[in-house]
Amino acid sequence: MDTPLLIIFCTCFYMSFCDNKTENCIEMREQETYDARDGEVVRLECHIKEINDNYDFNLTWYKNDNQIIDGIGQKIEEQRNVLWFLPASLSDSGNYVCEVRFSTSCYKLEMGLSVKDQGYYINNLDIVEYSKPAVIPCYILQHVVDLDKNPDVQWFKNFEPFQVNGEKIKRIENTLRISDMNHNDAGNYTCQVIFTYKGKRYTTSSNTEITLEDPKEPLTPHVIYPQNETLEVECGSEKILTCRVFIGIGEYLEPVIYWTVNNTHPEMYNAIKQLPGITKKENDTHYAELELVISEVTSDLYEIPFKCIATNAAGIDVGHLRLQPAKHRNWHLLFIVLAISVLVMLGVVIYTFFKIDIVLFYREIWNRTRTANVSDGKLYDAYVIYPKIDTLSSTRRAETFALQILPDMLENRYGYKLFLLERDQLPGEAVHNVINETIRKSRRLIIILTPTCFWDDHWQTTFEQQIGLYDALIRDEIKMKVRKTNLK
Ligand SMILES: *[C@@H]1O[C@H](CO)[C@@H](O)[C@H](O)[C@H]1NC(C)=O
Ligand SMILES: *[C@@H]1O[C@H](CO)[C@@H](O)[C@H](O)[C@H]1NC(C)=O
Ligand SMILES: *[C@@H]1O[C@H](CO)[C@@H](O)[C@H](O)[C@H]1NC(C)=O
Ligand SMILES: *[C@@H]1O[C@H](CO)[C@@H](O)[C@H](O)[C@H]1NC(C)=O
Ligand SMILES: *[C@@H]1O[C@H](CO)[C@@H](O)[C@H](O)[C@H]1NC(C)=O
Ligand SMILES: *[C@@H]1O[C@H](CO)[C@@H](O)[C@H](O)[C@H]1NC(C)=O
Repeated sequence: MDTPLLIIFCTCFYMSFCDNKTENCIEMREQETYDARDGEVVRLECHIKEINDNYDFNLTWYKNDNQIIDGIGQKIEEQRNVLWFLPASLSDSGNYVCEVRFSTSCYKLEMGLSVKDQGYYINNLDIVEYSKPAVIPCYILQHVVDLDKNPDVQWFKNFEPFQVNGEKIKRIENTLRISDMNHNDAGNYTCQVIFTYKGKRYTTSSNTEITLEDPKEPLTPHVIYPQNETLEVECGSEKILTCRVFIGIGEYLEPVIYWTVNNTHPEMYNAIKQLPGITKKENDTHYAELELVISEVTSDLYEIPFKCIATNAAGIDVGHLRLQPAKHRNWHLLFIVLAISVLVMLGVVIYTFFKIDIVLFYREIWNRTRTANVSDGKLYDAYVIYPKIDTLSSTRRAETFALQILPDMLENRYGYKLFLLERDQLPGEAVHNVINETIRKSRRLIIILTPTCFWDDHWQTTFEQQIGLYDALIRDEIKMKVRKTNLK
């Protein structure tokens, strides 16, 4: 039955070519059009299988109904069975035919070239199953190496540059490899190749659109939380544990999901209740959630295994969780201890490096306070004691120094207030009382010594000196200055 029909069909097929005796070419057409961007390099190939086995053939290219292509040898480069457009422009769009003549046969292959100045184009379409790996080739690259051995390659995802790094996406030779596909990985992947040919820089690219397909086989559920957790909980508090499970993409097998406590049913514990599970859909992905409510955490629940078990016909996954008593760390105390130790260390460091400065500073402050305190109730800045025996010339000079030079310098120049008994004593006052009181009302004691000064010989000087020294040394009320005049 089948044989006569086949013979008739073959005859018709043969006739259609053989009635044209001179042009007995087998005509074919490429399914897909070559897409290219204006300004980028594009390559047309005459895909005739016989070319690979046969070297003796004559090949001619035509464009749009048997026109000879102009530009061959200039902008268009012909290689064996390939045309390179270096680069393509909008006017290159059209229908191209390659005619191949062998000694006994002839083929014509027609193909379309579409050059666009804008918008995207897709050179290659691939559909990858969820969670399966994807291999994205850079088709043009294997041909560009015929023109340039070391071209630059850059990958784009959804028409934006992206760095290929990390575990998931890798560049291996001329391809990009994605280890397991999910929704984020679907998109347009473009490889751009920049190369040099005969001293000129050219750009070419190929775009692969990867779409995601639902898994063909049911997926094993996967427990997302808990995986292996330890939770700190207060004794007596309420706690809700939520198990989250990935259950599938698109169609999925209904899973069985349940909690176990200490490897048994949660219902065995009065304080624990498992709520009915719910499913959610996010971006075509299905999840299930199952809550375990512990109304009051008791100490016997610490350190026993809590498990969330998810299973379907494809497989099983288990999430592990443990409860632990909450540790009461006294952060407050820890902080204070830490702060104090830091301060102490700082103090030690400062003291080590600035010891001298500190001592000096302290002295200055101390002295200033002392001076400030003492200044209250004092009438004079200094009480001047000098030898008063008028027989010796050096004593006389000391007297001159005490009564004239010293007041002149200290009182007139620097504004100090001195007390000199001979000068400041009011007539009729009791000398003992005057000395006694005035020394106490003075901040300093200035004692002028001469080499030949006999203190004992003059009762008044001796008295002044005794009172002054007593005040200065014993009562610590007065500062003492001993001045030795060297007046010869
Ligand atoms: C042979 O066929 C071609 C088209 O395939 C046509 O252009 C040509 O005129 C034909 N020649 C003859 C002699 O029929
Ligand atoms: C190719 O063309 C040349 C000259 O036009 C001719 O000599 C040769 O036989 C042709 N080869 C084939 C296989 O047709
Ligand atoms: C690829 O890009 C085109 C144009 O932007 C867009 O319509 C298409 O959805 C993209 N493909 C994917 C898988 O994102
Ligand atoms: C859980 O984690 C602990 C340490 O964090 C580890 O010792 C244990 O093996 C893990 N168990 C599982 C089932 O992953
Ligand atoms: C769902 O898709 C949106 C947009 O692509 C994304 O922002 C979001 O993170 C996705 N959600 C999940 C759970 O993957
Ligand atoms: C947990 O199980 C072990 C052994 O099955 C048992 O000895 C223990 O008492 C159980 N603990 C609780 C809190 O139920």
